[in-house]
Amino acid sequence: MILYVYGMKTLRTISFTVVSSLPELSLRAAHEVERICNIAVVERGCFTLSLSGGSTPNTLFDLLASPEWRGRLCWDKTAVYWGDERCVTPDDESSNYWQAHSRLLSHVNAAEIFRIKGEKIPQAAATDYENQLLKSRSLWKNNTPGNVSCPRFDCILLGMGSDGHTASIFPGENAINEFQRIVVEQYISKLNSWRVTLTLPVLNNARNCLFLVSGKEKAHALREIFENPTNPLPAGQIRPRHGTVHWMVDQEAASFLSYHNV
Ligand code: 6PG
Repeated sequence: MILYVYGMKTLRTISFTVVSSLPELSLRAAHEVERICNIAVVERGCFTLSLSGGSTPNTLFDLLASPEWRGRLCWDKTAVYWGDERCVTPDDESSNYWQAHSRLLSHVNAAEIFRIKGEKIPQAAATDYENQLLKSRSLWKNNTPGNVSCPRFDCILLGMGSDGHTASIFPGENAINEFQRIVVEQYISKLNSWRVTLTLPVLNNARNCLFLVSGKEKAHALREIFENPTNPLPAGQIRPRHGTVHWMVDQEAASFLSYHNV
C-alpha cells in the first residue's frame, strides 16, 4: 500500500508491507536496501546507510553478508553509520557496532564506517559522533530546503521496541523532545543504561527510513501507531518530510491491525 501525503512543501510517502515471516521480511528488506543503494549511487555517487541494533536485523545482516548477496550492494561507495549505540566498548557483545561488524561488515568492504564510540563517556560519545557526521556532510548531498546542515541519509534502518521506541528514543525520555541537536546522549531509566542516538530531526530528514518489525510483542504498539493518530510513541513520529517511511512487518506484528483481520 502506498499512501502519498502531500503536505505543505513536503512529499511524505509511506509504504506498508506485511510478509509471512522474519526470513521473508529480511529478504524484502535486502531488496529494498539494494534498490535504494542503486538509486543513491546513480544519482549522487554514494550511499549513506545507517544501521540499527536489536535482534530483528540480524537475519538481514546475515543475508547481506552471504555469498549470494555480498556483491550486490555497492559497498565500495557505501558509508555506514548507526542510528544509535549502547555506551559500551566496541568489542562488547551488546554493542550495535559489534553486532553489525561480526555479522556483516567483516564480510564486506564498506568504503567508510562512522562508529559511535560507546567507550567514551556518553556526552563525549555524542559530541564525537556529531563531529563525525558534520565532517562527512559532503556525502549527504543534502538538497532539502531549509536544513542543509542536517544529515540526510539515503537509508536509515530502524527497529521498534514493544513500547514503541525506535533507535534510542524511548517514551518518557528527553530525546523525543530534542529538535536542536542531531545526536544526544540519553539515560534510559527502564534499562538503567546510557545510550547515544540520532534525534528526530535527522531521522525525519532521511530519504528513506526502513522499519523492520517482527513478532507478536510488537502488535500493540503497531496498532497504536496506525490506528491512534494522536499516539505519542517515538516510532510513530518517524515521518520523513522529504522522504519515505517503509514499514516492513511480519504477520504476527500486524495481527492487531483492524484491516489485517478483514
Ligand atoms: C537497539 C535498537 C533498538 C531496536 C529495538 C527493537 O539498539 O536496541 O536500535 O531501537 O531496534 O529495541 O529491537 P529488536 O529488534 O530486538 O526487537
